[in-house]
Amino acid sequence: MDAIRVPLIAGNWKMNHGGVSGVVLAASVAEIACETAGIEVVVAPPFTALAAVAHAVEEVAQRRGRAPIGVAGQNLHIEAKGAFTGEVSAPMLVEAGCRWVIVGHSERRQLFGETDELVAKKTLAAIVGGLHPIVCVGETLEERTAGRTLDVVLRQVRAVLEPLGRALGAAVLAYEPVWAIGTGKVATSADAQEVHAAIRATLSQRDGALAARTRILYGGSVKPENSAELLSQLDIDGALVGGASLDADGFGAILRAARPAS
Ligand code: PGA
Repeated sequence: MDAIRVPLIAGNWKMNHGGVSGVVLAASVAEIACETAGIEVVVAPPFTALAAVAHAVEEVAQRRGRAPIGVAGQNLHIEAKGAFTGEVSAPMLVEAGCRWVIVGHSERRQLFGETDELVAKKTLAAIVGGLHPIVCVGETLEERTAGRTLDVVLRQVRAVLEPLGRALGAAVLAYEPVWAIGTGKVATSADAQEVHAAIRATLSQRDGALAARTRILYGGSVKPENSAELLSQLDIDGALVGGASLDADGFGAILRAARPAS
């Protein structure tokens, strides 16, 4: 982490905690976040829990006299409204209390056919709609084994960087090697740092200031035991956490590990 970038820890709940349990978890996370100054915290519940979670974290923030933790959607449609059964738009996420949205998660790319082009359009729709997108990139095991990691990851980064340019300053990037997601296999901190540095160099070719201030999160089997080591790397500015964000103790331990040394 570089001191100019505030560490960001985001919990991606995926299709879990869509109701009351999500409100309870979010309130616990919001309480823990009050004790971990110097980092930014975001939770991404399913759509059904968003408004209630946003309300719960706001309540904790008011009671503790702190800024609320962020709430993120896990996906969005590129249009603001219309005949798109089953979809949710940026203005709807904002109305539900979100300031963030995850875009291009590998599960969206792999299971729901999202292309680089669609991910770029969603990133733009999020920014235009007033949200901070967390744009995910990452290679599959096959691509890594074939030595294509940087080709794939930097292609995915350029796909959003080229159309958006400086507007990408509203976004956070997340490097999530697909083979590390939900598998317990974490990239070594050195391997992750190498990819993060390459992503930052790609941003820098376009805009040095953008590269210096853009946070690049690592995701893929981040746990309390490995988070401090990953976050100690120069170009790793936080984490996108799946499984370990589903209970307050585990996620809280990651938040504490991310606190900048004082
Ligand atoms: P994981 O998921 O932490 O369970 O590997 C990360 C993610 O998919 O964002």
